[in-house]
This record gives sequence, C-alpha cells and structure tokens, in this order.
Amino acid sequence: TKYITEYFGYQKVLPMNTGVEAVETAIKLCRRWGYQRKGITENEAKIIVCSGNFHGRTTTVISFSTDPSSYNDYGPFMPGFIVIPYNDLNALSEALKDNTVAGFLVEPIQGEAGVVVPDQGYLSSAKKYCEAANVLFIADEIQTGLARTGRMLACDHENVHADILIIGKALSGGTIPVSAVLADDEIMLTIKPGEHGSTYGGNPLACKVAITALQVLKDEKMAENAEQMGRLLREELEKLQSPYIKAIRGKGLLNAIIIRHSNPEASWELCLEMMNRGLLAKPTHGDKIRFAPPLTITAEQVKEAVQIISESLKTLAD
Ligand SMILES: Cc1ncc(COP(=O)(O)O)c(C=O)c1O
Repeated sequence: TKYITEYFGYQKVLPMNTGVEAVETAIKLCRRWGYQRKGITENEAKIIVCSGNFHGRTTTVISFSTDPSSYNDYGPFMPGFIVIPYNDLNALSEALKDNTVAGFLVEPIQGEAGVVVPDQGYLSSAKKYCEAANVLFIADEIQTGLARTGRMLACDHENVHADILIIGKALSGGTIPVSAVLADDEIMLTIKPGEHGSTYGGNPLACKVAITALQVLKDEKMAENAEQMGRLLREELEKLQSPYIKAIRGKGLLNAIIIRHSNPEASWELCLEMMNRGLLAKPTHGDKIRFAPPLTITAEQVKEAVQIISESLKTLAD
C-alpha cells in the first residue's frame, strides 16, 4: 500500500478487483463521509453524476446511467443521484446548491460515451466549485488513468487532485482484475475494518502485479509516449482529409473518430474492413470509433494503423 499511496499522493488505498467495485466503494465512502463528516441527515446524501456517464454495470451504478442499453428492464433503481449534463459548469453550480450533496462523480474524459473531452478548465473549475460547496470531487480514472491520456492521470492535465481517485483496468497491465480507490484519512477512515471488503481485494498476486505495472509505466515513460504518439495519430488522421470523418478527438492515446455516412451501419462495416486488414477497433454509440492502442505503440505502427484506416475508409465509397 505504501508504494501506491506515495505514487499518487494519498494517505490510504483500498484495493478491490473490478472497476465497478471500486466505483461502488467510492460511493460508499462518499456517503459515509457525507453523514459522518459533513453532517448530512441520514439517508439523504446525494451524489452528482453526468449524463453520458459510464461507471460500470452493477445495479447501483446503472441506476444513474443515461444509456437505455445499460439500464433498461433492470429496475427498480437506486435513489440518491442527481444527473447533470457533462461539461456544464453552470449545471454543476446549480446542483451544488443542494446541501445534501456529498460528492461529484466524474470521468475526466467520457470514454464509453465516445471519448468526449470536456473544455479546458472544466475539471479545475469543477474541483473548485466542489471545494467551495464542501463536496467531494471523485474522479473515475478507470479508463483515463495510468498514462493513457499522456499524463499519469487525466486530472493531471489540469493539476486537479481528486478527493477520491478510482483506478482499474491498466492497473494490472490488463492481466488480472485489480482496481483501487485512493483517498486521505479524513475520508477513508469513515469505513472501519470489517465494514467493507472483498475476498480477493488486495490479494498478494494482484498487489504485486499492480506495483509492477505502475513501475513499468514510469520506467518505460509510457505517459510521454502516449502524449507523442497520440498527437501523431491525430495529425495523421487529419491529413487523410476523409469526407467520412466528421470529427477527430482525444488526448494522448485515448482517441475517437466520428463517422459521417448515409449508411447507419458504416462505422461497424469500417471496423470489419479494418479488422480484415489487421487493425482492431470497436464502434460505440453508432457513429463513433474509439482508438486506444497499446501505450507502447511506435511511430511506425501509428502510421501503419492510419494507412489501414485510410484504405478501409475508401471502401465506404462502394
Ligand atoms: C470510466 C469507467 N468506469 C468504470 C468502468 C467499469 O470497469 P469494470 O468493467 O472493470 O467493472 C469502466 C469500464 O469500461 C470505465 O470505462
């Protein structure tokens, strides 16, 4: 635990297994803090979340999803969440007026929604608003964290230190389930031993793998590589000047293109064409294709990938 808390600058870590379990843990911590520290009336605590969010697939977490394919026919749903639009500081400031709000749970970039990058300054302002309202800023960096966006954490782009940090996925280099929640004592110690946990949470193998994965990220300068290769990828995609690409967006090696085509199946067909040429990508929400290549990708490989994308795009004309 010392390795990971020092690595990210928190007093405590609570290890779990999957990403969504870490999100659930953060929700429990936030509610506890709300009752025991902020003094919110019992069972009144609320957490603000954003539309278009993806935080996982448990019954509580899908309760505040705005995507019908996530929540349809899984009700009844868990109360206690306020949904506001993403990247909307006015909506956040309005929602924060409710003094039963304990936390604001946000993805620094919405991954599953199709790599939705908020305006520069959104995260730092949101953090300040939360501080002023005595509300915890909870960053779900399960997808954006660990060098993916060109910094160790996506919040680092705006020098934001979340009150509760959630990480997962790449924490094991994609090998075994390991996730973690980091926070300082004032928050973490509201949960006492025996009040939360998981059989496999913090098992020795998972801890060893996580430490090694974190070490490799630094040793191999993966954040720097993600920054440079991401820029190259977006530049090369721009150069294609394809009429079928409506937009290119992303940070570091978390990127997406939005397809413009009369055929609603075009993105799916494009992914099949790319697959046949050796490049794997998957459409999300119809017209968006996400590119999140390995953090070790080289310039040559980026160019090869863009060549495949270019050839595949041409088949859309047929
Ligand atoms: C931002 C975010 N949060 C949570 C999750 C859920 O993680 P897991 O599938 O490990 O439960 C994901 C998975 O895609 C994610 O992208």
